[in-house]
Amino acid sequence: MGLVSGKVALVTGGAQGIGEAISMTLAKEGAAVAILDVNLEKAQETAVNIKKLGVDSEAFKCDVSNVADVETTVEKVVDRFKKIDILVNNAGITRDNLLIRMSEQEWDLVIAINLKGTFNFTQKVGRIMMKQRSGSIINISSVIGLMGNAGQTNYAATKAGVIGITKSVAKELGSRNVRVNAICPGYIQTAMTDKLSEEVKAKMIELIPAKKMGLPQDVANAALFLASDLSAYTTGETIRVDGGMAM
Ligand SMILES: NC(=O)c1ccc[n+]([C@@H]2O[C@H](COP(=O)([O-])OP(=O)(O)OC[C@H]3O[C@@H](n4cnc5c(N)ncnc54)[C@H](O)[C@@H]3O)[C@@H](O)[C@H]2O)c1
Repeated sequence: MGLVSGKVALVTGGAQGIGEAISMTLAKEGAAVAILDVNLEKAQETAVNIKKLGVDSEAFKCDVSNVADVETTVEKVVDRFKKIDILVNNAGITRDNLLIRMSEQEWDLVIAINLKGTFNFTQKVGRIMMKQRSGSIINISSVIGLMGNAGQTNYAATKAGVIGITKSVAKELGSRNVRVNAICPGYIQTAMTDKLSEEVKAKMIELIPAKKMGLPQDVANAALFLASDLSAYTTGETIRVDGGMAM
């Protein structure tokens, strides 16, 4: 028996990086996983790898910022898997620029995907979990939401906002046995951080007490704890997985 055996998880942005690691980890511990992503081809690869573990999985194309798309995709997931026990709001992007140079498009796109995307799924799936009288929602925030970062006004606003959503919805849904928690990853090796220059990477690592980058698996391990009944009395919490970066 795995830690999340018999549960159904929905992971947004599950095609690669942190979302893929979370999907694989929940699957290894027995959960069926619906992988949602704008990149259907890659999401299907993750679903195939999950099925090889002997648990059910299916990929769905979905843009988290599009309310109508979210609504129909959540319906498809419930038709296919009958319930949703675990929601991981992981899809996210960066469009970095200094405040004075930031375009309206750079601001709007990051808000639409990181912040509104989290609202869209939390509302649609939250309703289902309320009726089920059980569920665990895990929002992937960032240490940047706690610390701020030059060049990331838009991203920091969304990640701080995600913590606000987490605490508010934890208060609203607590009595229905639905838990809502956030994870703040630090500097994790994925496509998102690969695009940074070697100089920026070296500077970031200097700021981390652990003196190294984290791996997607480090974040997935925290997600597994929050998804499972090991965290049954934990809600509204924000867990940093950052090698000490933001303490
Ligand atoms: N990598 C890090 O250091 C780091 C640190 C803190 C927080 N995070 C957060 O972790 C999450 C995952 O990041 P990652 O590093 O794995 O990034 P990534 O770019 O490797 O993966 C992001 C995934 O989200 C998908 N996606 C993007 N826009 C989408 C949309 N509109 N609808 C559906 N899917 C969409 C992408 O196709 C991709 O599969 C993000 O929310 C990110 O902000 C990452």
